[in-house]
Amino acid sequence: MTFKLIHVGLGGWGMDWERTALATIADRVTVTGIVEAWQPNLERAQEVLGYTDAQSFTNLTDALTSVEADAVLITSPPATHMSLAVEAMRAGKHVLSEKPMASSIAEAREAIQVSRETGMHLQISQNYRYYPALIKAVELLRDGVLGGLARVNVDFRQWVHDAPAGENPYYDLDHPLLSDMAIHHWDMMRMILGCEAESIYVQRSDPSWSNYRDVASATAIVTFTNGVVVSYRGSWMSSDTPTFWAGEWKMECEDGLISMTSRQGGPFGTQGDAVSIRTRSGVMQPQPLPHLPVWGRSAGVLDLQRWIETGEPSQNAAERNLGSLAIVEAAIKSAASGVVEPIRIPRA
Ligand SMILES: NC(=O)c1ccc[n+]([C@@H]2O[C@H](COP(=O)([O-])OP(=O)(O)OC[C@H]3O[C@@H](n4cnc5c(N)ncnc54)[C@H](O)[C@@H]3O)[C@@H](O)[C@H]2O)c1
Repeated sequence: MTFKLIHVGLGGWGMDWERTALATIADRVTVTGIVEAWQPNLERAQEVLGYTDAQSFTNLTDALTSVEADAVLITSPPATHMSLAVEAMRAGKHVLSEKPMASSIAEAREAIQVSRETGMHLQISQNYRYYPALIKAVELLRDGVLGGLARVNVDFRQWVHDAPAGENPYYDLDHPLLSDMAIHHWDMMRMILGCEAESIYVQRSDPSWSNYRDVASATAIVTFTNGVVVSYRGSWMSSDTPTFWAGEWKMECEDGLISMTSRQGGPFGTQGDAVSIRTRSGVMQPQPLPHLPVWGRSAGVLDLQRWIETGEPSQNAAERNLGSLAIVEAAIKSAASGVVEPIRIPRA
């Protein structure tokens, strides 16, 4: 029997979920219904993906009463994630929601409370965690291959700035870097360092010619509870060579360097993932990476299914994701206040 999903939000990324992430695991996962609030996008999804009228809805309420499902996959905008998740959980469905989980920690906690009350699992799609380079980096640090970790430098560079001002809806997003994109990098830091962040200092570094309404380039210093300090430079308008989506990572250890990149994006799957190590006097040595037959978003779906079957929570259980959301909140606060902000992770 396959795992049955209702899929909500068939915009750009939702369509990509269907064509790549869900298509890869079509032998194990079936979408029984799609929900898209905007009629033209609903029709496009029907036409491109072949869903019938009986499987297609403009609101979740109708889908929940009309088709069978084990879980609801949410790929709509962040402001809608938790209200949809709460409705799904109250209807007895587990939930896998895109990042960022919620617009605020308070909203996330309310949804986690509903998850407890209903016994339905709430998982966040932090898909970068299911890529081979990250898994290898965690392993190298855990095994102390180059001794203890001293500091980490992360660079993320993209150029999404070709359209004139006002002509790319992304320019108008709240916190396009610090929330929408960097939540991946904050979450990766927590995964790789194996602990929580305790403070952050952010300086906006947008040039005067930025077409973005909100912070699109920033430099941050993040301090973790194990004493490691991460320096982070991110930009949506970097004229330097673009990085892959996970960014370029340099992890300075007692006996040498671990460098890592991941998530090339587009059709490349895990191809661009790479980890190298170099002792202080040696040369870079590429490391063999684990082979993952299923990776990224698809692995996240199977992780939720495993959680349901075994009762062992996913690493991306909403409760565990609060630490990443807390970095987002503190980063936004620091960018505005200009001072170091503590990162407070509430008990869920
Ligand atoms: N993990 C990643 O690598 C990654 C990459 C891109 C986007 N995302 C995330 O995916 C989500 C969607 O991004 P996008 O770029 O596709 O956004 P989008 O705005 O292009 O698409 C969202 C779609 O959801 C629909 N929608 C809005 N409210 C709805 C509701 N209540 N019910 C049903 N449909 C509704 C909209 O009509 C739209 O078609 C965001 O949370 C974004 O952060 C994640």
